[in-house]
Amino acid sequence: MLNVAVLISGTGSNLRALLEAAAAPGFPARVIAVGADRDAEGLAHAADFGIPAFSVPFRAFESREAWGEELATQLRAWSPNLVVLSGLMRLLPPAVVREFAPAIVNTHPAYLPEFPGAHGVRDALASGASQTGASVIQVDDGVDTGPILAQERVAIEPGDTEESLHARIKPVERRLLIDVVRRIAAGDLDLSTSAHPAH
Ligand code: GRF
Repeated sequence: MLNVAVLISGTGSNLRALLEAAAAPGFPARVIAVGADRDAEGLAHAADFGIPAFSVPFRAFESREAWGEELATQLRAWSPNLVVLSGLMRLLPPAVVREFAPAIVNTHPAYLPEFPGAHGVRDALASGASQTGASVIQVDDGVDTGPILAQERVAIEPGDTEESLHARIKPVERRLLIDVVRRIAAGDLDLSTSAHPAH
């Protein structure tokens, strides 16, 4: 059984999808803790599933490094086999990445390496492109630059707003995330090797 810790910042809809998938009999992973960098709305999903949650408010710390140290302390206490960033809108300090890598994955609402960063959906829309996508990557020290574990194209429709496009991307993101977690838990996806055939 793969023990997964999930970090969020927002509504946690991707987290909820993972919690629901993990509740199904035979799913080879379980969420053992949920953390946030603020009093995130999505922490309520952990409560709904009876899963311990913690908040390490970024603004309560003098520096990103100090925040990272506390976050790592909280994560370490759960000895996760995998850390999932699912809507965490913070860059992890290098020390935190070093401690938990290679077992850190992140979901991103674009077809990386297209449109990295905090506004992937808005940037894709503004680019005039006819399609974007969703990606699940391994986290390294960069911004959305780690090895791509899974990704899929999502159409941009005429008249799309950032909200309507993001709403079309998220279900794809959730499906990819759940499949990546399942493959890691089943031993079909080894994060310790550097290159991964993107699915
Ligand atoms: C997701 O699309 C995630 O990739 C991006 O922000 C969104 C978070 O959505 N970083 P939610 O909090 O899972 O609903």
